[in-house]
Order: sequence, then C-alpha cells, then structure tokens
Amino acid sequence: MPSVSAPKSCILGTGAYAPDRVLSNADLERLVDTSDAWITERTGIKERRVAADDQASSDMALVAAQRALEAAGLTAKDLDMIIVGTVTPDLPMPACAAILQQKLGAGPIPSFDISAACAGFIYAMSIADQFIRSGAQKHVLIVGVELLSRILNMKDRTTCVLFGDGAGAAVLGPAKADGAGILSTKLYTDSSLVGSLCIPAGGSKERLTPEALGAQRDKVHMAGQDIFKVAVKNLTSASRSALEQAELPSSAVRWVVPHQANLRIIAQVAQRLDIPLERFVLNIEKYGNTSSASIPIALDEALRDGRIEKGDTVLMCALGAGISWGSALVRV
Ligand code: UT7
Repeated sequence: MPSVSAPKSCILGTGAYAPDRVLSNADLERLVDTSDAWITERTGIKERRVAADDQASSDMALVAAQRALEAAGLTAKDLDMIIVGTVTPDLPMPACAAILQQKLGAGPIPSFDISAACAGFIYAMSIADQFIRSGAQKHVLIVGVELLSRILNMKDRTTCVLFGDGAGAAVLGPAKADGAGILSTKLYTDSSLVGSLCIPAGGSKERLTPEALGAQRDKVHMAGQDIFKVAVKNLTSASRSALEQAELPSSAVRWVVPHQANLRIIAQVAQRLDIPLERFVLNIEKYGNTSSASIPIALDEALRDGRIEKGDTVLMCALGAGISWGSALVRV
C-alpha cells in the first residue's frame, strides 16, 4: 500500500450548468411505452434536462468552467491545463477541451479530452492531481460534460429514459497547509463488458452507412442488467480501495458524491460500504444520468448549498462504458 502523505492538490472552486429545458417522465410516456411509475421505481429519475438545438457540449462546459473559475477566484489566464471528460465532444476532432480553451480565452495551454464515459470526471481529477503533484502544472481545469440527448435512440425505452444533459467543472491547484486536498484516487478499466455499453457505429470500426443509421447504431446501446451488477460490486470495491489508500475508515466519510446512474445501485453501494444513504448527495431525480457531468454537478450543488462544509471528507465514485470506473477521496 502506498504511504499516506499530505495532499498535494486541492479543489479551489467548482461550477455546474444544466440546460433550461426539462423533459419529465410524463413527457417520455408520450414518446415510448414507459411510465412514470416504472422509471421512478427502477431508477429514481423524475426528470432530466435537454440542451437547446443550438447548444454544443463546449457551450455547457463554458458556463460550468466560468462558474468554477469565479468560485476559485481565478481567471482563464491563470489556467495551466484543461482536461475534459466527455463522450459527446462538439466534433470528432479536435478535442472539446481545445474548443473550450478558445471560448474561455485561456492561453496556449495543454488541453485534451479523455474518454472514460461516466468515470470521466474521476479520471480527469486523478490526472490533474498527478500533474499538480509532480509540480508540472499549477492550476488545472477539469470538466465533465455530456450532451447525451444527441446520442440517444428516443424509441428505445431501455436507454432514452435514463440520460440527461449537463456540465460540471472544478479548478484544482496546489494544496495549502490546511490539510484539504485530494487524499487518494483509484482508476480501473475491465474490457470484458466493452459491448454491454457502447455506440456501435460511427467510429473507425463501423461506418455510418444508411443501414447503420436506420438501425440507430450511432446511438447508445446498453445491456442494463450486466452493467448494474458490476456497478454495485466495482463501485464498492473502488471506494474501499480509495479509503484504504488514505488509511481512513468509511466512518470518516462525511459525504459520498456518487455517479447518479440508478438510485438502486447507489442504495446497494451505501449498504455495502455501511454508509447511510442520508450521507449520499443525490440529484438523480432532477437530472437523470448525465454521465461524466453527474459527479461535478452534484458536488457543486452540495458545496454551494452548504451541505458539504470546509474540512469534510468526501468520497466520489463512478462507473460507465469501458467498463471504466474509479473513486476519489477528497478533503474540502
Ligand atoms: O452510467 C452508465 C452506467 N449505467 C448504469 O449504471 C445502468 C445500470 N443499469 C440499470 O440502471 C438498470 O439495469 C436499468 C435501469 C437500465 C434497467 O432496470 P432493470 O431493473 O435492470 O430492468 P430490466 O432491464 O431487467 O427490465 C425489466 C423489464 C423488462 O420487461 P420484461 O422483459 O420483464 O417484460 C423491460 O423490457 O422492464 C422493461 N423495461 C421498461 N418498462 C417500462 C425496460 N425499460 C423500460 C421502461 N419502461 N423505460
């Protein structure tokens, strides 16, 4: 086990953005063969947000990033790196982070996307921590942003009711002497379930032929039950590993900010970790599953409304396509 040392990087500020348009379960009842009762009981979701037609991921990321910079008391010119976790960049290339850099007016700093689906924000946090820890960079903007409504088959009730659009961001910087900061991060990928959550066509493997488009193979396909089972197991073990690495018991955790994919997954993880569900920050009811944006949106909400207070130890954990998952333990 690595030796426990004082944190080297900390969260200086957070921000979030969700589009105005609300899509309720009742709205979805008119689109597919589903019901508010099914969605609520099986997932905990009541509504989700949908971006406007003229919005791209970078537009949502921009607002979240500006709010995070303001909370950190910094400007875009102070940034040394931008990392965006997303599976819905504005364009296949260049990176969403490059477009965000331009919109923010940041300098010619390294800016790149990472593709770790719902675990994207945790991956970005871990990478940022390594760069700050090594002294290579000082201020790193990390963003989780998804415009999932563009990649959903709105006729597939097994996926279209689950996801929503949004963005969340944090600015990380060198830790101060107050003990606040990133205590540990853990990252994993297990490729045995690659096909259980994917977009089959549109990459280099399968072209966007009329047949592929007709079969909606450019949209999200998910074997929900396969993912559910590993989600409970892996989120629990990753959380335990982050605690072990920081040499802290689960009782030291004041708040858990989990990926908001399914309330039943979260409840089972809570039980296995022996942390009461009351100590989990939950907003799945309002936003559904916003993939890489879900943790930073929930984190920002709980910091701004005062639930998470200075000195609190916060555990985050997320799992998504890949399957990629991870955890982070942070003292705020
Ligand atoms: O964030 C990325 C990672 N993703 C996840 O973590 C998602 C993990 N998986 C899940 O959250 C759940 O598996 C789902 C919410 C996707 C599905 O819930 P489930 O309890 O596993 O349902 P199921 O797939 O076993 O389906 C049960 C029934 C089926 O009908 P039959 O075969 O029993 O007649 C489905 O066809 O529910 C049906 N069903 C629906 N019924 C009404 C599936 N979707 C719907 C729907 N409305 N939207």
